[in-house]
Amino acid sequence: MTIDKNITSEELRKKWLDFFASRGHAVIPSASLIPENDPTVLFTTAGMHPLVPYLLGQKHPSGTRLTNVQKCVRTGDIDEVGDDSHCTFFEMMGNWSLGDYFKKEMIEWSYEFLTKELSLDPKKLAVSVFLGDKDAPKDNESAEIWKKCGIKKDRIYFLPKANNWWGPAGVTGPCGPDTEMFIDKGNPCGKKCSPACDCGNYLEIWNDVFMQYCKDAEGKFSVLKQQNVDTGMGLERTLCTLLGKKSVYDTDLFCDAIAKLEQLSGQKYGQDNEVTKNMRVILDHIRTSVFMIGDTSGIVPSNTDQGYILRRLLRRAIRFSQKLGVQAGGLSQIAKVFVQKYQAVYEELKKNQDKICTEIDNEETKFEHTLSTGQKEFDKLCGYLVGDTISGKAAFKLYDTYGYPIELTVEMAREKGLQVNLEDYHKCYAEHQQKSAAGAEAKFKGGLADNTEATTHLHTATHLMHKALKTVLKDDTVGQKGSNITAERLRFDFNFSRPLTEQEISQVETMVNQAIAAKADIECKEMTVEQAKSSGAIGLFDQKYGEKVKVYTMGAFSKEICGGPHASNTGDLGVFKITKEQSSSAGVRRIKATLTK
Ligand code: SER
Repeated sequence: MTIDKNITSEELRKKWLDFFASRGHAVIPSASLIPENDPTVLFTTAGMHPLVPYLLGQKHPSGTRLTNVQKCVRTGDIDEVGDDSHCTFFEMMGNWSLGDYFKKEMIEWSYEFLTKELSLDPKKLAVSVFLGDKDAPKDNESAEIWKKCGIKKDRIYFLPKANNWWGPAGVTGPCGPDTEMFIDKGNPCGKKCSPACDCGNYLEIWNDVFMQYCKDAEGKFSVLKQQNVDTGMGLERTLCTLLGKKSVYDTDLFCDAIAKLEQLSGQKYGQDNEVTKNMRVILDHIRTSVFMIGDTSGIVPSNTDQGYILRRLLRRAIRFSQKLGVQAGGLSQIAKVFVQKYQAVYEELKKNQDKICTEIDNEETKFEHTLSTGQKEFDKLCGYLVGDTISGKAAFKLYDTYGYPIELTVEMAREKGLQVNLEDYHKCYAEHQQKSAAGAEAKFKGGLADNTEATTHLHTATHLMHKALKTVLKDDTVGQKGSNITAERLRFDFNFSRPLTEQEISQVETMVNQAIAAKADIECKEMTVEQAKSSGAIGLFDQKYGEKVKVYTMGAFSKEICGGPHASNTGDLGVFKITKEQSSSAGVRRIKATLTK
């Protein structure tokens, strides 16, 4: 691969837009980070997202060939931020054909852009194409076009839907088979190493999606009236590859902010792994916060929806900045550096600079108070702790008395090698809910769209999924090994010895969505452990429940011991989707899933 040591983010954006503009594409601005007409997601997650109506057939005012660089936010992997590649904000360079050109033009242009514009060595490229299944045929056509371009047969991999199908962005909508492009780093993990392998040898840099299908709420695919192309290339990742760097943080996008952070903290980026990780978390979270607050539909920290995600990012950045010894007010200075870096491309940031800084400073003041009182309590309880688990009651006290979000307690515990008994935390939380004023209760039941509701619904969905897994995998010994819920997703660990097949994943999804569609009332009964067992309830039957346990019944589908909190009807949950299935540890699988309204 030819390494271009000097390429900058500005040059890469320009290369992309110029290439497609000279092939008849209208350059359109990035849409807002906050989706305008889509209540199913909190943030714009891909370039195609704001274009869904046009992919479905509506006429776009700028024509049938479009290109842009879109601001995107994905917070599903927030715990991973700090490594070389994860960012919660990123820019996606994209181009679209709305019923105009199709596979031939797109693949030829992809090859040309990669090998001529970016000077990537064709011998280092590998591609994947769709293997075919009951929903759509094998994509021999794309493979043939790649061969004609010069990609050797043994560098073209046919892969199934799990790898080579993109979309819909939400639950329903346009989607289709894709062909993905990879850099082969020359370090295969074995003979069978392929782009489907997660050993890291193949780095995906571009995705051409052939959006010919529409998925409906029942999971059926119908052919769209127009054949679209939707492609996306991550700016940060491509820049890092072209520069021959190991990490996206080693690009021009971050270097001024790193210098500022070094100055504010008196520490050196790269001096050791911990400082580097802490700095990356701050850089990532502040950059994302700058774009969220500074957006044309900008948001502010709050306890609901997008505002809650922003609050979490800011509070995490504040905590990490304190670890590095950055004085209060330092984060807004880093924010200013990002505004400076991006303002020529995203002019809304300059306009909103004062607002960005004020919101960050205010949140810092609020959170500092919370932290200083809570930290003492946290240290105290760690001092008394016998064993390695903080009780649910103690975690709830931190939340209730000191305003410590549960995610923060979990993270601080993890840093000390401790765990938090989340099940008991939820139990305390539920008891607290029951005791709270009737008015608040009514509001809660009425569907107050706040974090409480989001996590409660995800927790309820966990019960449905637990039962569905046992049923689909035809194995009653399959059971919960761990659970972690944030406002955006559930995470569920369970014992099972192999990866789930694509069909099993889809069966679990369908089964959960059917249980939701059944609109079953959720009932809670108190009984003894013995009664619970003989009633067929699932759950952990160990001592820690005490004599009486709560059993939650969801129609005829699920009966499980739990402390709550739960929705009152399965119909309230929205649409359930599994976003990831992976190994957690030996013999334990991990699923991440979301609910969208
Ligand atoms: N929508 C596809 C993606 O996000 C291509 O842009 O990868």
